[in-house]
Amino acid sequence: NGASSRPTSTPTPAPISAPAGIEEYDDPPLFSPSLIGDDVSSSLPEGYSIRPLRRSDYSGGFLPTLRVLTTVGEPTLAEFNARYDFMASRNDTYYILVICDTTGTVVGTGAVIVERKFIHNMGLVGHIEDIAVAKNQQGKKLGLRIIQALDSVAARVGCYKSILDCSEANEGFYVKCGFKRAGLEMAHYY
Ligand code: ACO
Repeated sequence: NGASSRPTSTPTPAPISAPAGIEEYDDPPLFSPSLIGDDVSSSLPEGYSIRPLRRSDYSGGFLPTLRVLTTVGEPTLAEFNARYDFMASRNDTYYILVICDTTGTVVGTGAVIVERKFIHNMGLVGHIEDIAVAKNQQGKKLGLRIIQALDSVAARVGCYKSILDCSEANEGFYVKCGFKRAGLEMAHYY
């Protein structure tokens, strides 16, 4: 019978540890990591990683990295979480990613916002925004990897092009990333 086939010794209990991927439940990525091309991840410096933004990035290098780009202010945790939750509720539109160094600190970031149009057969356009690499990490091709990753996200979600605005001083960087000058930026500040 079944009872006789039971082992007589007490089985060794499984080690108590968090199930693999528990972080995915507690602190999920803003969008599916599969939208970032594997080729981008494998071209990063040894020990660096690229991933979607997470709510827990309030602490760590995300906000300091953005400060190399422009004024950020001092958002409270509640303000940050409210903005993150807004974006997460529209996670077919807001794609923000980060590069982390060997210590897991965010040292680079970039975003693509997907606009849905009536023209061009209900076309989708990616708007590349807020590209920043920490000052002491510039020149390691992290900016290039951010753009390649955003390009892969935009293409995989169905955009027919991505566009961005930049200063003359950054034109050479974007040309190296495969962009070409097209048109003229205009702004009306409120
Ligand atoms: N002008 C010309 N070429 C450049 C520039 C530049 N300003 N910056 C980098 N490059 C070149 C590099 O020399 C490299 O060329 P190579 O392949 O021949 O070696 C190539 O572009 C790739 O450079 P990366 O190492 O990937 O650049 P980095 O990681 O330093 O990131 C970035 C570039 C994002 C512009 C960074 O300097 C930065 O964060 N600057 C401050 C914030 C900023 O201006 N962000 C862009 C705002 S525009 C927007 O967000 C849409």
